[in-house]
Amino acid sequence: MERVEEYLNANKLQYRDTSEIVEEFDKEIGEMRGRCVDIGCGPGDVTTELILPKLPRDALLVGADISNAMVDHATKKYRDNRRLSFLRLDIETSSLPQEQIARYDNAVSFYCLHWCHNTRRAFENIYKLLRPGGKVLTMFLAYNDGFDAYVRIHENPRYQPYMQDAHKFVPFFHRCNDSRGTLRTILEDTGFKVLHCSKREKSFVFPNIQILKKYALAVNPFISRIPEDLKEEFEDVLIREIVSQKILFPSKADKCQQEYSVLDRYHILVAYVQKPYTVMQ
Ligand SMILES: C[S@@+](CC[C@H](N)C(=O)[O-])C[C@H]1O[C@@H](n2cnc3c(N)ncnc32)[C@H](O)[C@@H]1O
Repeated sequence: MERVEEYLNANKLQYRDTSEIVEEFDKEIGEMRGRCVDIGCGPGDVTTELILPKLPRDALLVGADISNAMVDHATKKYRDNRRLSFLRLDIETSSLPQEQIARYDNAVSFYCLHWCHNTRRAFENIYKLLRPGGKVLTMFLAYNDGFDAYVRIHENPRYQPYMQDAHKFVPFFHRCNDSRGTLRTILEDTGFKVLHCSKREKSFVFPNIQILKKYALAVNPFISRIPEDLKEEFEDVLIREIVSQKILFPSKADKCQQEYSVLDRYHILVAYVQKPYTVMQ
């Protein structure tokens, strides 16, 4: 995700959901001592405004993200905060940098891990980042029917050249019948002790279709590949496909009742796990 400003202007849904989880796990985050890592920190607003204030006063927080643009933005914006730093890190990599191994006491990750095609490897890497006893709190998307739009549009020969890898951006858990059970198995196979693992249904109301469009484009992985002369058309087709799966109702704000609000229903997964102090053979 390279579109920093676009994401900052369209992340109320992610910010709200993360804020709710951070409140719910207030006590657990309050016990995360030492050096913590926020995986998939994005522009750093959630890292700084929601997570850092909940950590013990002497804890350090490192925001890590695959996107140079996000890391550059966060580094510049929060450079005066001595408890914060940011680095580029791909949590799905097959070669985790040696100096990152066992560097962290605890980890959090919000709205990031559904971007990982190889979820198992992402959790194996998180395990490696931690010291024994380290805990992880994570929340990410399990299901949103908006992802099905990627697959449908990919079938259109006009857009196919730019979306050959569309399936990679449909989250692993989106296609899973038992996403909670599967996540639990992955976490246990990785070696984590599972302290909490749940799937939750959530909803968010976009006041109108234009606002939904802003949100959908801010996190769209294909838009930067589409040629300028096709962009507007692609955006319209994408939004039409996404909206076709949603519930629309007349907007209260619009007295003439010509505008529609959009109800988005989706599932998230929440897990709180620990790397054991001693590894069982
Ligand atoms: C939707 S944003 C969430 C940002 C922030 N955590 C929040 O809650 O607002 C997802 C972030 O995950 C990052 N990301 C995606 N894949 C990643 C990977 N393999 N490793 C690290 N970060 C990744 C993206 O670059 C993006 O900044």
